[in-house]
Amino acid sequence: DTAPPELQEKTLVLVKPDAVQRRLVGNVIQRFERRGFKLVAMKLLQADQGLLDKHYQQLRQKPFYPALLAYMTSGPLVAMVWEGYNVVRSTRAMVGDTDSATAAAGTIRGDFSMHVSRNVVHASDSVETAQREIGFWFQQDELVAWESGDQDYTY
Ligand code: PPS
Repeated sequence: DTAPPELQEKTLVLVKPDAVQRRLVGNVIQRFERRGFKLVAMKLLQADQGLLDKHYQQLRQKPFYPALLAYMTSGPLVAMVWEGYNVVRSTRAMVGDTDSATAAAGTIRGDFSMHVSRNVVHASDSVETAQREIGFWFQQDELVAWESGDQDYTY
């Protein structure tokens, strides 16, 4: 990829099973596209406990973890990798607070979620976390390098 390094920051977004069931996948994708971010990987899959135990390794001792596992395995989810300038921080802002009650209107959770236990999306919380999480969900060769053509969309 010939893009400068600051344009190659990547983050993992999961469109969680409740959002797939509610037909919200397109709405979530549209928000990232219109912001200008670049889709570099995407798949629909049924997550299993082994994968979620890795992804949520910091949460395995939490009292809500069994409920979180049941939720995240309740149907297929969509895993995506988005790329672009400050994409990790921008994505967290677009997703909104973990607690749906305080997620601002206009954010994904503020627009579509009532409760933390059905909060529609996951997004990596730092560049380092993103690199680790992308590795749990995607093989290296599933990330596609491509040129936008129209450079107006890169910044
Ligand atoms: S914590 O306790 O500070 O580690 O939690 P937090 O960082 O706020 O949230 C981590 C993820 O756990 C999910 N979560 C829950 N799921 C189900 N039920 C309850 N009560 C609950 N509380 C937190 C929360 O949505 C975060 O998931 P992701 O997928 O990372 O957004």
